[in-house]
Amino acid sequence: MSLVRLRGVTKTVRIPDAEPLTILDGVDLEIAEAEWVSVVGRSGSGKSTLLNILGLLDAPSAGEFDVDGVPVHRLSSSARDRKRGADIGFVFQQFNLLAGRTALENVVTPLLYASGSRFWRRRSIAAEMLERVGLGHRLGARPEVLSGGEQQRVAIARALVRAPRLILADEPTGALDVETGAAVIDLLESVAAKNGSALVVITHDPAVAARAGSRYRLDGGRLSAVAGTAAA
Ligand SMILES: Nc1ncnc2c1ncn2[C@@H]1O[C@H](COP(=O)(O)OP(=O)(O)O)[C@@H](O)[C@H]1O
Ligand SMILES: [Mg+2]
Repeated sequence: MSLVRLRGVTKTVRIPDAEPLTILDGVDLEIAEAEWVSVVGRSGSGKSTLLNILGLLDAPSAGEFDVDGVPVHRLSSSARDRKRGADIGFVFQQFNLLAGRTALENVVTPLLYASGSRFWRRRSIAAEMLERVGLGHRLGARPEVLSGGEQQRVAIARALVRAPRLILADEPTGALDVETGAAVIDLLESVAAKNGSALVVITHDPAVAARAGSRYRLDGGRLSAVAGTAAA
């Protein structure tokens, strides 16, 4: 069974005094456990909208969307929230760390909702995760004093600390120089593989996209598989 499966997913939004805008147009996509997927597309092609739907932050206007074989529209909003919290980790272009909080506090945050021993051990679990992304020596550093690459590594530790089955990254290298960006993708790839998480990276960088086993392109809201990859 696929982790997620989209069939004919469409997203339209109403705009005052204009025709409705179609952002996603009949998207078919299946993602298996531990699959490494990239999606490229120009600015405005619908990449973030697709990622937000996959992350249960936004809902399709039409089409089928199953997670673990269950149609998402059948889940209650609290079941959706639980699924998002437990199974999905997000990494954004602008890192989205809590300012004024240390690296450790940022990575602890998702564990505040954990139960039992994971809650009580949250600080050591978060410290271990920061160790894994190479920041074991910067636990007490606030985002303001960290470089862009270091901030993105904190964000990756935060996304991974609950061992999600799906990691969604929206332009994770967009604010980084080429070398730092490549190191961030190395890290995402290795932590995802070690955890057995599926990884979806949205990017407009062809070099980043080329590293994924399954590659797709979005163009004006239409998704196509790139020939010669596992997607096609
Ligand atoms: N809620 C919305 N209302 C109106 N237009 C939107 C909304 N969300 C996205 N759009 C438009 O849809 C298009 C695709 O957006 P987005 O998914 O953010 O693209 P990308 O991430 O590929 O740049 C853009 O033209 C954007 O302005
Ligand atoms: Mg975007």
